[in-house]
Amino acid sequence: MSLRNTADEYGTVAKWLHWTIALLFVGAYCAVYYRQLFTEPKTTPNAIAFQIHLSCGMSVLALVVLRIVWRLINEQPRSEPGTRLAHLAAHWGHIALYAIMVLAPLTGYLGTGANVNFFFLFEIPSFKNTALFESLVASRGLTFEEFEKPIDIVHKAILGEWVVWILVVGHALAALYHHVVLKDRTMLKMTTGGSRQSLDRAAPL
Ligand code: HEM
Ligand code: HEM
Repeated sequence: MSLRNTADEYGTVAKWLHWTIALLFVGAYCAVYYRQLFTEPKTTPNAIAFQIHLSCGMSVLALVVLRIVWRLINEQPRSEPGTRLAHLAAHWGHIALYAIMVLAPLTGYLGTGANVNFFFLFEIPSFKNTALFESLVASRGLTFEEFEKPIDIVHKAILGEWVVWILVVGHALAALYHHVVLKDRTMLKMTTGGSRQSLDRAAPL
């Protein structure tokens, strides 16, 4: 298995970035819903879950920068046979997933007044407490509350509650459909890289 992508499969770096970011999305969701459903405000578990949500989100923001650079300097594995419409859907679906990997954490960061205690290791100042906020926002006479209101709506009500779910669940179901129904190499390209023929031969045993 090579570090870089090949025509047959994603390389180790792309796989590692893909699955780490996927896990961080799961972590961000579990933490925020655990906080909302199972903890009382102003308790330690509430604060811990909150910081885990922020930390998972900030990790996505950092890793997606590497991922975009890595994607730009790597070839893409060749597509499996399919209709033109299926290829277009996959292509735009991947672009939309990149968009949410940037926008979900960015809107979270810009719209949160609290500092991030990154996995309880070190602190990242909230946007409100940076010189950038002073020069880009406060200098135009906007308070943080006025600035964060629309960003919060995008983060929670539009992306968090709807768009991310639809895109990620749609993407995972499409991957499963390829693996289980079409029996092509789509999933293998992002996992073991194994050849589909050996799987098919193994099936009757
Ligand atoms: C992968 C990135 C992220 C995703 C998918 C995500 C998703 C979500 C979701 C689903 C909610 C709950 C919405 C609701 O109330 O129904 C939420 C709330 C919130 N997010 Fe994020 N978020 C991400 C990153 C961030 C980051 C980086 C920050 C800040 C640094 C942040 C700050 C917040 C805050 C303050 C809330 C409100 C928490 C609460 O009311 O319990 N998020 N986010
Ligand atoms: C259980 C969840 C997931 C499964 C089963 C899954 C599966 C896959 C598979 C099989 C591919 C290769 C598709 C191809 O090359 O045609 C892929 C690619 C991709 N996935 Fe996922 N994925 C999951 C979660 C996610 C999440 C949470 C994101 C981001 C929010 C994501 C973003 C992408 C992107 C952008 C690609 C295109 C390849 C790249 O540029 O890295 N995936 N995924």
